[in-house]
Amino acid sequence: MKITKICCIGAGYVGGPTMAVIAQKCPHIQVTVVDLNEERIAAWNDKDLNNIPIYEPGLDAIVSEARDRNLFFSTEVDKAIDEAQIIFISVNTPTKTYGKGKGMAADLKFIELCARQIARVAKDNKIVVEKSTLPVRTAEAIKSILDNTGNGVQFQILSNPEFLAEGTAVQDLLNPDRILIGGDTTFEGQKAIQSLVDVYSNWVNADKILTTNVWSSELSKLTANAFLAQRISSINAMSELCEKTGADINEVAKAIGMDSRIGSKFLKASVGFGGSCFQKDILNLVYIAKSYGLNEVADYWEQVIIMNDHQKRRFSSKIVQTLYNTVSDKKITFLGWAFKKDTNDTRESAAIYVANDLINEHAKIAVYDPKVSSKKVLDDLNYLETRSIENNANSITSHLDPYEACQNAHAIAILTEWDEFKLYDWQKIYDSMQKPAFIFDGRNVLNGIELTEIGFIYKGIGS
Ligand code: NAD
Ligand code: UDX
Repeated sequence: MKITKICCIGAGYVGGPTMAVIAQKCPHIQVTVVDLNEERIAAWNDKDLNNIPIYEPGLDAIVSEARDRNLFFSTEVDKAIDEAQIIFISVNTPTKTYGKGKGMAADLKFIELCARQIARVAKDNKIVVEKSTLPVRTAEAIKSILDNTGNGVQFQILSNPEFLAEGTAVQDLLNPDRILIGGDTTFEGQKAIQSLVDVYSNWVNADKILTTNVWSSELSKLTANAFLAQRISSINAMSELCEKTGADINEVAKAIGMDSRIGSKFLKASVGFGGSCFQKDILNLVYIAKSYGLNEVADYWEQVIIMNDHQKRRFSSKIVQTLYNTVSDKKITFLGWAFKKDTNDTRESAAIYVANDLINEHAKIAVYDPKVSSKKVLDDLNYLETRSIENNANSITSHLDPYEACQNAHAIAILTEWDEFKLYDWQKIYDSMQKPAFIFDGRNVLNGIELTEIGFIYKGIGS
C-alpha cells in the first residue's frame, strides 16, 4: 500500500515527538496527530515554540520545520482516522486504579476506545499500529473489536513499540538502536509490515529494522523495560552495601561496566528510577505472569519494584537520621523535581515520594527545577492524597531562582541530575545556609571533595 497519510491518536510524550520526526523525515507523507485534550493540541499549535507541551532538546526545531507543511495537530479524530492509511495508537496505558488487577494491570480502556472509534469511522482498509506499550496479546483484543464492529473493512494490526527515552527522545528517534515491527505471518500481514518498514526506511538503515511476529514484538517492549529497570535496582542494591562497607558504588559500577558482557550504560546508582514506564510496565509484566500461574517469574520481577521503593524510602530516612533524627520545621531544598534531566516530565519521579516522606516528618520543602512549574509540583503531591491540599500547599514552595531556594536551608537534596547544578556558586549557597550545611546527592552529580572543602557535609549514594 502506498502510504500518503498517517494518523496518530495521542499527542503525548511518545505520539508528539515520534510523529514530528516521521513528518520531518517523510515530507511526502501527511502526518496528523490527534488528541481529545484540546489544551494539549492548542499548545502543539502555539506559534511560540517555547509553549509546545513537551520539552525535549531539539524538538522545537523539528516541529518548526514540519508543522503546517506535512505535520498537523488536531482534535478532529474521526477525520484523521478516515483519511489515513496507517493509524498509530499512542494513547496512555496507565496502571489500573480500580477493579480487577488494580495497582498492577495496564488499564486498556483508552486503547479499546480507540479501536472502537477506528471501527466506527473506517470506510476503507487500514493498518492499525500499536505504538503504546501493551500487554502481550493485546493485538488479539484490538483485532476482535475491529473485526466485529467494523464496516466490512480489512484491518491489519502491527505492533511497533517505542524505545525512546525522555530527555533524549529526538536523538533516539533520529538514530534508533532498532525499530521493531511485529505483524501477522500471513501474506496480508507481511504486506502491512512492509508498508511500515518503507516509512522508517526513509531514515533508518535496513539492518536496524527488525520484524517479528506480533506477540514477540509486544513482549519485547515489556522485556526491554524490565531489563533496564533491573539494572538500576541491581546497582542501587549494591549502593546500600557500599555504604556499609567502605566500597564506592561509582568505582564498583566502573569496574563491572568494563566487562563487555555487562557493559557500562545504565549503571548509575540513584535515589531510585522514576518515569511513566518502568514501574507501570514491570507491574504489568508481574500481573501477566501471575495470570498464567507463573508465580516465580512474577516474584522475580516484582523484586525490581520492591528494591526501587526501598531506595526512595532509604534516601528520605537517611536525611531524617542525619539531621539529628528530626526535620520538623526544617527547610530542605530540593534541586530537581523531574524524573530525569532534560525533561519537564515528573511522572513517578522519586522527588514526589521523598517529599511526601519528609512532609510526613513536618519538614518544609523548597523546590527548584528549571523546567517544572510550581503548579505541577503541588499537583504531583496532591495526587498521592496523603494529606489535605492546604496542608501540602503550606509544606512545599517552588522557586524560580536556585540560590533563593537554598537560602536558610538546613539541607539540600539533589533529586534530578540537571547539568546546571554542577555550575552553581556553591560557596555562595553554603554561606546562605543554616550550619551545619548538608547536601544529599541523590544522583552523585556533584563533586563531594570540593563541597567538603567548602564546609558542606556531603552524602552521596553508595559511598
Ligand atoms: P501521554 O499521557 O503523554 O499521552 C497520551 C495522550 O493520549 C494524552 O494526551 C491523551 O489525552 C491521549 N488520549 C487518550 N485517549 C485518547 C483517545 N481515545 N482519543 C484521543 N486521544 C486520547 O502518554 P505517553 O507518555 O505518550 O505514552 C503513550 C504510550 O507510549 C504508553 O503506552 C507508554 O507506556 C508508551 N511509551 C512511553 C514512553 C515515554 O517515554 N513516555 C516511551 C515508550 C513508550
Ligand atoms: C525508559 C526506557 O529507557 C525507554 O527505552 C522506554 O521507551 C521508556 O522508558 P525513560 O523512562 O524516558 O525511558 O528514561 P530512562 O533514561 O530510562 O530513565 C528512567 C529512570 O531511571 C530515570 O528516573 C533515571 O534517572 C533512572 N536511571 C536511569 C537511573 O537511576 N540510573 C541509570 O543508570 C539510568
